[in-house]
Amino acid sequence: MILKKLGQSDIEISAVGQGTGIHHSLKNREIYRQLESTIRTGIEMGINFVDTAPVYGEGEAEMVIGKALKGIRHAVVLATKVSPENISSKGIKGSVEGSLRRLQTDRIDLLQIHWPNPQIPLSDTLMGLEEIAREGLVRYVGICNFSFNDTQEIHQKLPPKHLASVQVEYNLFDRSIEREFLPFGQQEGISIVAYSPLHRGRIVANRRQFGILQTIANQYDKTPAQIVLRWLTGHLPVVVIPNTTNSERMKENAKSMDFDLKEEDARYLEEKCTGHFLEIPPRSIQVADDSGRSVYRTLDEALRNAMNCVPSPQELAEQIATGEFLKPVRLRPAKSSSDRFELLEGRIRYWAWVIAHGFEKPLPALIEDFS
Ligand SMILES: NC(=O)c1ccc[n+]([C@@H]2O[C@H](COP(=O)([O-])OP(=O)(O)OC[C@H]3O[C@@H](n4cnc5c(N)ncnc54)[C@H](OP(=O)(O)O)[C@@H]3O)[C@@H](O)[C@H]2O)c1
Repeated sequence: MILKKLGQSDIEISAVGQGTGIHHSLKNREIYRQLESTIRTGIEMGINFVDTAPVYGEGEAEMVIGKALKGIRHAVVLATKVSPENISSKGIKGSVEGSLRRLQTDRIDLLQIHWPNPQIPLSDTLMGLEEIAREGLVRYVGICNFSFNDTQEIHQKLPPKHLASVQVEYNLFDRSIEREFLPFGQQEGISIVAYSPLHRGRIVANRRQFGILQTIANQYDKTPAQIVLRWLTGHLPVVVIPNTTNSERMKENAKSMDFDLKEEDARYLEEKCTGHFLEIPPRSIQVADDSGRSVYRTLDEALRNAMNCVPSPQELAEQIATGEFLKPVRLRPAKSSSDRFELLEGRIRYWAWVIAHGFEKPLPALIEDFS
């Protein structure tokens, strides 16, 4: 297993960690039993970094980890998060206490702010983070899903070396973090924890790309997933947290670190297998999709934010209006018409863009097409 430093700390984490992001709609005992044994398998394979959050399975994922780590807690660097509604100094303390109870431990190695919350002053959040670190409940802190400007500001305002990690989406399909976050992590000694490293199991954008990836994988006697995980971790500050509840896949993911990807193959993958980055006017995008996730269907609904999304479309629009780079939304070609697209991911970003710029100004998008 390849080990990397967590930020500038003296803690070493495995370049492949274990993600545990189970959606609460999948609250199913069998999945949790599988997750528990997968975590143990991962640890036997040299994985020592486990990432979770109170929101995963509404606390169930943390409880499963608590059970899985009985007697072996010392062998693991445990990372959890605090949800955006709890990122006041008081809220952070309460959230951490809940996580410690569910995880059956007395300290969290890495506490990450899960999403920004514009309704809570940053100064209050930072005070809360410093307090729990002082009390010894948390060793290092990290953030997820903040804009690049906010990330820089948090890094400057926290005590030196305190911000150990930034968790962002990074996979072969979506390489947008290479613009700013990746060089920043490298320069500042901050770990980049890559979530959805396998593009949620789809790995690339389409079948043609998958075929190319498979050909490269065959040359190494590896699988496409292993090639992608190795490509990602070839970037100095990057560790990956693929999610699986399947022990065989966990072994496969752990074994993605026992070979080197040749420089020319890495460049070839980047050239041939990266997502198509386009700019599409919002009026050409249908927001309703078949994923079963709730979505605002009209601008009026988005402005009212009845689902209480944090940040709200309106709050995100204010940030976008300042010209900050927006993570691209995910689209697939609509079945009904060749010049229309369906929105797969980025429901809040889509409406935030419409609030900021209207329906005509094209927004950054990545297109996948497995039809
Ligand atoms: N901070 C955040 O906002 C945030 C957001 C999203 C995710 N995350 C974290 O990142 C973790 C991973 O992200 P993710 O679950 O979105 O996506 P992912 O890890 O890219 O993909 C997970 C999917 O890939 C499949 N898979 C795993 N190993 C595989 C392999 N070797 N070959 C083929 N398929 C494989 C899994 O299926 P099986 O289970 O059937 O193997 C699952 O369907 C989460 O668990 C969570 O901890 C954080």
